[in-house]
Amino acid sequence: MSAIKNVTVIGSGTMGNGICHVFAQHGFNVHMMDIRQEALDKALLTIGKNMDRQVSKGAITQTSKDEAMAHISTFTNMFDAVKDADLVVEAATEDIELKINIFKQLDEHCKPECILASNTSSISITRIGSYTKRPGQVIGMHFFNPVPVMKLIEIINGYGTRAEITDIIFKLAETLGKVPCVVNDYPGFISNRILMPMINEAVLALQEGVAGINEIDSVMKLGMAHPMGPLQLADFIGLDTCYSIMHVLHMGFGNQKYAPATLLANMVQAGYLGVKSGEGFYKYTPGSKDLVVSERFSGKK
Ligand code: CAA
Repeated sequence: MSAIKNVTVIGSGTMGNGICHVFAQHGFNVHMMDIRQEALDKALLTIGKNMDRQVSKGAITQTSKDEAMAHISTFTNMFDAVKDADLVVEAATEDIELKINIFKQLDEHCKPECILASNTSSISITRIGSYTKRPGQVIGMHFFNPVPVMKLIEIINGYGTRAEITDIIFKLAETLGKVPCVVNDYPGFISNRILMPMINEAVLALQEGVAGINEIDSVMKLGMAHPMGPLQLADFIGLDTCYSIMHVLHMGFGNQKYAPATLLANMVQAGYLGVKSGEGFYKYTPGSKDLVVSERFSGKK
């Protein structure tokens, strides 16, 4: 574990920048890599703002924020980003071909002892590992959004992941102040095998007119003490991500019960992706925390 000092995170989107935030706050040298410099600049601003939030709440000091920010460097070139890495955490888009391509490059450019982790929410770690010459060092390290807040890291053992690697990642998760849970490599692991069918069922209930958005979300928030209703959570995660995870479950188990709801598929096709596109089940206005049901579902359109 003490051998891990340099951590490279591939992808600077919501999950990637959150993962960088947490590693940097715990003293690791973080290399944040993305293909576009603008994405990296935006991610640095987001990390800074999220740390400011922690400073204003008294959770961290201004000095520890400054130290953490100084631990993060940005890269657009894969070779430079990973050549000194002891651990790489891939947090790119949930697309199997993209991930396979990234892992092939990582295997080529990283030191032989470097551990390769994926933050995938549902794609097989065994399959990703099979495209490298080090499947024993490939593992799932699944963080949850917002990464600085959520306590869980779901650790996924691929078929060939070595026990000592699981052990290192388990202890590392604890060092980050998180609670690790180790699971085996089946579609959706545990988190999304349970969460996504619930979200999909909420979309089906809406599609069938059983209830409206506010009612569906209120039932789950007030009746089951969920911090967000399933439709708000779907918007928060991204409807495209929800759709692709349902697709992985559907294909992986070959069971019709995992078929993505038609309404979910239509919304993704039409570009209504939730918070990131400004509209999903709810409509989002920058700077406003109000939860406003999209006009498409409120009968106003
Ligand atoms: N960085 C740092 N701190 C943050 C933050 C961020 N990005 N986002 C929120 N916070 C902090 C706030 O500062 C606040 O701190 P205090 O408790 O010290 O006051 C705390 O988190 C709560 O935030 P807010 O007061 O702004 O809002 P809230 O009480 O409504 O909580 C929430 C927001 C934490 C997101 C809460 O609604 C929640 O837990 N929602 C469910 C999130 C969830 O289920 N995530 C998992 C999604 S699935 C996934 O990620 C993986 C996958 O595979 C799909």
